[in-house]
Amino acid sequence: MHHFNFKSEELYCEEVPLKKIASEVGTPFYCYSQATLTRHVQQFSEPFKDVDALLCYAVKANSNIAVLRLLLSLGCGADIVSGGELFRVLKAGGERKKIVFSGVGKREDEIEFALKEKILSLNVESAQELELVSNIAKKLKTKAPISIRVNPDIDPKTHPYISTGLLQNKFGIPLKEAIGLFHKASKDPNLDLVGIDCHIGSQVTELAPFLDALRSIKNTIKQLKSEGIKIDHLDIGGGLGITYSDENPPHPRDYAKAVLDELAGLDLMLIMEPGRVIVGNAGILVTKVLFTKHTSQKEFVIVDAAMNDLIRPGLYNAYQEIIPVKESSSESTKVVDVVGPVCETGDFLARERKMPTVSPGDLLAVMSAGAYGFSMSSNYNSRPRVAEILVNGDKFAVIRKREALEDLILGETMAHWLGGKD
Ligand code: LLP
Repeated sequence: MHHFNFKSEELYCEEVPLKKIASEVGTPFYCYSQATLTRHVQQFSEPFKDVDALLCYAVKANSNIAVLRLLLSLGCGADIVSGGELFRVLKAGGERKKIVFSGVGKREDEIEFALKEKILSLNVESAQELELVSNIAKKLKTKAPISIRVNPDIDPKTHPYISTGLLQNKFGIPLKEAIGLFHKASKDPNLDLVGIDCHIGSQVTELAPFLDALRSIKNTIKQLKSEGIKIDHLDIGGGLGITYSDENPPHPRDYAKAVLDELAGLDLMLIMEPGRVIVGNAGILVTKVLFTKHTSQKEFVIVDAAMNDLIRPGLYNAYQEIIPVKESSSESTKVVDVVGPVCETGDFLARERKMPTVSPGDLLAVMSAGAYGFSMSSNYNSRPRVAEILVNGDKFAVIRKREALEDLILGETMAHWLGGKD
């Protein structure tokens, strides 16, 4: 459920007509609904209210600082994967002790930054990383709180690019090897072994892979306990899928119940790292039709948003629903490719899609674009990144202004031998 609805044939975000935003800020723009974001956090957290649990929102899904501020104010912590994300969370007012740091390739400066800020846990993903964290903690005369990310070798049955919990993936440490590392970490005076974690993949639409992973991790925790190793938390990652078209993922309530049933009796704090399920259906991308083009083989709708603004269709062949912002009274439809101005054939938002007939100047809404939309956007083809808008009831705010041409060359300089200034 979200708050993007038609009222008298016009698409609204909460109480604001999208047409109004388009006329004030231009197109394309991302638009997020505060009521939807709030509802999603509440819905996800509610079933865990009686247990020791922390929802660490996966910042990579949507890292705008206003979105972060809202989610943090609703009680979320943060799952970060870079120094840049830590910087953003701190800017948004995040509590250090609610931040976990995931990622397979943390740099020395990033580890140092996280240790100095005294975050809750660094989720370590290799023996070499464990050693580096220990060395940095020693240098800083501190004890590094760490969790070990295990790879449970579970097929999440999602797109191969976003599957992370199989042995062939670069993520985590195979359960068998992990045991040795837990022992090593527990004896290291520079480390404070606080947790175990995993993340099997993203856009997972069934409960079974989550539960299979939990079962094997539970066994590992029991084994560790019997060998005298105590940890404080279990971080089960994110990955719960959403409906883009006809997927039928478990409701967060059912996910929660299954997780809680599976983990009953385990006396540990529970951490979750949801991203998409919180922000995905809370945001859309609004774009304008520039031209329509008919060839002997295809009908193209050429719009002003492109793969640099929303790469999911091009990268994963992902389906994103596209609807006209003004409902048409005519029944006429066409099968079209919705494409952007970027010079690549992979630059499409939809292919072979049956849509109401549209004309230049019409506004289209690309639905379910709140997660991995703006956060994966780029300046490819020297296209300024688009504006981001947050709607709250009948108000809206520009939470990231559209980039100007000058922003495109920010940081670029002439080499002095080309006649530029040093
Ligand atoms: N925790 C870790 C360690 C992760 O790597 C991820 C996502 C999450 C949590 C959050 O997963 P979520 O709840 O959002 O599924 N760009 C892709 C998705 C990549 C996900 C990467 N990791 C897409 O657009 O589908």
